[in-house]
Amino acid sequence: MPLIEWSEKLSTKIPSIDRQHKVILGYINDLHDGIESGDCKGNLDLTLNGLVNYTRTHFAYEEMLFRRFDYEQQAEHLEVHQRMIGKVADFKQRYTSGERDIAPELLEFLKDWLYHHILEDDMAYSDHMTNHGVK
Ligand SMILES: [Fe+2]
Ligand SMILES: [Fe+2]
Repeated sequence: MPLIEWSEKLSTKIPSIDRQHKVILGYINDLHDGIESGDCKGNLDLTLNGLVNYTRTHFAYEEMLFRRFDYEQQAEHLEVHQRMIGKVADFKQRYTSGERDIAPELLEFLKDWLYHHILEDDMAYSDHMTNHGVK
């Protein structure tokens, strides 16, 4: 069973952003399923790597939009992104170096992060971007 289900309430009304958020959600669910089913270490490391890389790409895309459309709260939002990248990289480091028991803590963090960041920080730019015609 997936850890997180997509629902309309997660939608920012910006299709490109929603598509990317769904990919991130997919990575988190894959990680969850892999851990649940006792997947081999190699697979989980690949998923975790994919998640970290894709998240960087997604954050860079949002930050590009912030600059292009002069988003007022970009400094704060950027800081949140940086903190998240740091935390996930930290978890990844611990996880890949053998601390397998941090998996539940990592999943809790990712789930919480996805919900909070989308529902609070990302939602905050929705109107600004849709008013500029971002799709
Ligand atoms: Fe986002
Ligand atoms: Fe964001």
